[in-house]
Formats: sequence, C-alpha cells, structure tokens
Amino acid sequence: MALRRSDFLKGLGLGWLGLVLAPFKARAAPRVVPKPKQVWEAVEFDFEKNGETFPGYALRLPDASGAPGDVLSVCRLCPHERCTFGFETNFEAVGRMTGAQIANPVFFCRCHMSVFDPSKQAAVVSGPAPRGAWRFTHEDKGTQLLITSLEDGAGTIK
Ligand code: FES
Repeated sequence: MALRRSDFLKGLGLGWLGLVLAPFKARAAPRVVPKPKQVWEAVEFDFEKNGETFPGYALRLPDASGAPGDVLSVCRLCPHERCTFGFETNFEAVGRMTGAQIANPVFFCRCHMSVFDPSKQAAVVSGPAPRGAWRFTHEDKGTQLLITSLEDGAGTIK
C-alpha cells in the first residue's frame, strides 16, 4: 500500500507542513489513454494529482442493444482500505464467492471482497466498501480519451 505524502509528514510530526505547502502542490495532470473498443474492454492507466499517483480503469460499457457504448473511468483504489481492485470478467465466480447478485463483469477487491458494479456507475453491491468507486472525468477524443480530473476526496479513507 502506498504511503501518501500527507501521512508521511504526519508521521514525522510535520503535518502542519502540508498546510504550508498546499498552495504549491502540483495539480492534476490531464492524461491521454487509448479508448477501449470492445464491450467490457478495460484499459489501465495512472493519473497524477497533487503529487500522488492514482491507478485507473477506462471501461467500455454496452449500450442498450449490447453494442459498444459509453466509457466509465474509475479509480482503482478501493474506498474501504485503499487496496487496488481488479476487473473481473468471471463475474459468476465472484458472485459465488461473495453472494452478490451480479449479471455482468465487475470491479472486485480481493482484500475484503468488495464488489463494484460498472453497470451501476461502479456502485458498491457487496462487501465492506462504504461507497462506490471514485470516478474520473474524461473527454471522448475519438480513438482516445483525455482523462481530465479525479473526484475530490478520492483516496481518502475515513
Ligand atoms: S480494501 Fe477493498 S474491500 Fe477492503
């Protein structure tokens, strides 16, 4: 598990330094990634925000007819305890393991078995995660995506 700069400073008794340096922190850096072409194709990427690297997935969802539709982009840090979750196409096995009622591929955190349903905007449908996956915003550039931002509070565990 990655140690965040703010946690490192707090560990040294220098938590106040984070407040002093806050105005000088790097902001989010937009990132171009390939747009997934096929339904349920996931593209991995990393995104820099405020000096921290956030792993992400851009996932192509089906439209109402089952053809390639919108892309959902999520942060892979689990909102439970920040393990990095994966994308599971074998959702039947995840359902048997967790008891979750799911009918499509899911994001699955193996640390404590939280399940996030991409067809429900990555809402948590099973396990201890207190909320759905954090989301990125992106712009569709044809064959590419421009990942523009990550929602505020992403990666913060309460
Ligand atoms: S860290 Fe993901 S379920 Fe606990």
